[in-house]
Amino acid sequence: MDIPVNVLILAAGLGTRMKSKLAKVLHRAGGRTLIEHVVETASSLTAPERIFVVVGHQAEQVKETVAARGVRFVTQAEQKGTAHAVQSCRETAGGDSLVVVLYGDCPLLSAATLAGLIERQRASSAALTLLATELDHPAGYGRLLRGPDGSVEAVVEENAATAQQRAIREVNAGIYCFRGDLLWKHIGEILPDNPAGEFYLTDIVAVLRRAGHAVQAISHKDARELLGVNTRVDLAEADRVLRERTVLGLMLDGVSIERPETVTIDPQVRIGRDSAVGPFVQVVGNSRIGEGCRIGSCSIVENSILGDGVVVAPFTVIADSQLENNVQVGPFARLRPGNHLEARARVGNFVELKKTRLGEDSVAMHLSYLGDAAIGKRINIGAGTITCNYDGVKKHQTTIGDGAFVGSHSTLVAPVQIGPGSYVGAGSVITKEVPGDALAIGRSRQMNKTGWAKRRRERLQP
Ligand code: UD1
Ligand code: CA
Repeated sequence: MDIPVNVLILAAGLGTRMKSKLAKVLHRAGGRTLIEHVVETASSLTAPERIFVVVGHQAEQVKETVAARGVRFVTQAEQKGTAHAVQSCRETAGGDSLVVVLYGDCPLLSAATLAGLIERQRASSAALTLLATELDHPAGYGRLLRGPDGSVEAVVEENAATAQQRAIREVNAGIYCFRGDLLWKHIGEILPDNPAGEFYLTDIVAVLRRAGHAVQAISHKDARELLGVNTRVDLAEADRVLRERTVLGLMLDGVSIERPETVTIDPQVRIGRDSAVGPFVQVVGNSRIGEGCRIGSCSIVENSILGDGVVVAPFTVIADSQLENNVQVGPFARLRPGNHLEARARVGNFVELKKTRLGEDSVAMHLSYLGDAAIGKRINIGAGTITCNYDGVKKHQTTIGDGAFVGSHSTLVAPVQIGPGSYVGAGSVITKEVPGDALAIGRSRQMNKTGWAKRRRERLQP
């Protein structure tokens, strides 16, 4: 039987180069925190109880972020370097196993690459297999030192490297698979003899070599996949790559995406076939979009469920709402949380909705605020209609029965009920219940003064 794999994920550092109050691994790229990406990749390889996340800075927040995965945690109270972080796992992760070490700041690493690394280690007699790659700009990475026969002799960190060594473009990706027995035997031999005074895990290469063991490197072609996020520039690059992977996956699954490089879609979002997404769209959170939908440019859909055939016209913002089949919203509509639009309902430009149900075939096409409203079926909400849902202390409901017609510029002072089949005259201020099938007019009566304007002109003319 293959010996099992323990995975150590180092995530205790603050990430000084991020210049942030937030621990680096809690920064987000591609819709998730960096640590979530790494834990997800590790989870594809081994059982959760064999994954050990080393925490230190903002340990509680880091734990909360990935606790649901069932992984284990090791505390590195003081961050004395990557070798020190590994050593802090010795008690809990020290059994007979292969040991994969990953850094919590490498969110782009794929499960396939990691599986390949483990296979290479299993098939060899080396003490360690690590991933290496060539970079045009290797600054910040540890450089690989190879002997005359091409074998890996050491990794030297940037701050400990000579000018000549800094010119080496082959770097250590920080992704390792060790023979566990040899790792635990030799990890204590690493000394903090470098300008930073840290225990560098990378020194294990020279230590193992000195002890007579072989170390091998796999040269990985796709350097991008091995990106370690150290600065916010790296973070933006990681985000770009992850977003690109998500939109490529969606396109291959039958979603049309225009100018995909401008579109932001979270990894857990689902979009049905033949839906089309315009430029600069964002679909984030736990959103689900059905088949044959159109999401117009610059719209944002967050934590919302859209049925089939839904049209979201450009510049629309939708949060925490449900839109049934063939609903149309926008352009320039704003759906704040808690709306439910039934089939074929339509909402037009400059309409704001909050905690509102809009029944089948009902329409609110222009310039309205509808908040805390239960609006039935086949209702016309005229331009400029406002539900006055707030009395300065509490929010109140507006209820409108099926088939009602609310004239333009109506002011509905909640709590208020408008009966089914009734009419509200344009410009009305409605403060009392309107019975079903009634006409309510709540405005001052028009008065015409015959000839008044003409008389005024004559009076004022010199
Ligand atoms: C590290 C490698 C470098 C490699 C690069 C690849 C070392 C000494 N250097 O450098 O060879 O090219 O990654 O991306 O390993 N951490 C802890 N505890 C500590 C120190 C760090 O948990 O005491 C964690 C950090 O939170 C981080 C990870 O280890 O997630 C890597 O640390 P970082 O400081 O980013 O290492 P690099 O300088 O990038
Ligand atoms: Ca790093």
